Amino acid sequence: MNAVAVITGLGASLPPDRITNEHLVREGLETSDAWIRSRTGIESRHRVRPGIATGDLAVAAARGALESAGRHDAGLLILATTTPDRRCPATAPEVAARLGMAGTPAFDLAAVCSGFVYGAAVASAVLMAGAYDSVLLVAAETYSTIVDPHDRGTAVIFGDGAGATYLTRGHRADPGALVHFDLGSDGTGSDLITIPAGGSGSPYTEASPRQDRYFRMRGREVYARAVRQMAASSRAVLGRAGWSTDSVAAFVAHQANQRILDSVADRLGIPPDRCHGNLRDVGNTAAASLPLALADTAARDAVRPGARTLLTAFGGGLTWGSIAMTWPQAKPVRHPPHPRPAHKETDTCLPSTTTS
Ligand code: UT7
Repeated sequence: MNAVAVITGLGASLPPDRITNEHLVREGLETSDAWIRSRTGIESRHRVRPGIATGDLAVAAARGALESAGRHDAGLLILATTTPDRRCPATAPEVAARLGMAGTPAFDLAAVCSGFVYGAAVASAVLMAGAYDSVLLVAAETYSTIVDPHDRGTAVIFGDGAGATYLTRGHRADPGALVHFDLGSDGTGSDLITIPAGGSGSPYTEASPRQDRYFRMRGREVYARAVRQMAASSRAVLGRAGWSTDSVAAFVAHQANQRILDSVADRLGIPPDRCHGNLRDVGNTAAASLPLALADTAARDAVRPGARTLLTAFGGGLTWGSIAMTWPQAKPVRHPPHPRPAHKETDTCLPSTTTS
């Protein structure tokens, strides 16, 4: 059986406001450009303005992926995000409606920074099962809405952005073929990356400490686990695909921290010229990190379509995952965030009230 999911469209969206390290210092964060560059490799990240939500980035990136694939709709829409527009309902149905796809099945997927890999595995499974002929997989985040601006352990790392892929059924030999997956989780580490209050286990009340409503990360422990787990998961998926690390032409890891990326590549024996990403310019955009890095790298024509490619991610949950794939042919299409219309497009679809 040679049918696999294939990426045929790539989209991306970044908020126009670019926040440099110096900007964070000017805002009063107790840090320095030198510290952030040397400890993370990040020089800037993007941030949404108030009023722009995850769904607005998702619509823009998804539109890009549809245009890139030359399609108008998809059979299923999956939105990987840690930062939905509201706690209820999911953001994906509204994104689908804003794309003119009301009626299409759409759901949010919560796997934090591994969300894109998890979403790609689900998309691949439904395509291979024949349930749908196409899937629009979007990953969008606005971490600036959950990060404590005074927490220098997270405020310097995270950025906002969205990436999207259009997936159809194809063959292993096609550029963009998702050949094998490795996924895993370990909930014993669920407190290493968390928003402590606001869920059913610990509702946010007026008595809750202020910091508990914000994203929190035990950086040093996460760092060690991220290096170990991304290397192990990468080895697992390469083993499943029967690929040697030498045969991997492109390596794209979750854009977490340059030191983490270097350590993982070093453990795997992948030389720097085969490692691709955009961490320096966009920071860590959680679930959006991998599709944004794919789109940026593809825009530079830095990898030959069809070349063996390894993707790996690690994040809250704890969750991790890797994909053995071939580099896509698709040309990425970028759009600025698409603000929600003043009157929801879906309002026009409401049935008129009739009295009998
Ligand atoms: O995306 C999901 C997965 N997330 C990750 O993979 C992120 C993993 N963790 C990291 O990237 C790193 O742990 C951080 C970038 C968050 C922190 O870097 P670190 O090298 O692990 O720093 P540290 O927490 O061990 O702190 C070292 C020192 C401390 O000072 P002392 O105690 O040595 O005096 C911190 O207080 O650096 C200090 N520090 C800072 N100084 C200036 C921590 N953050 C900052 C900062 N600016 N932003």
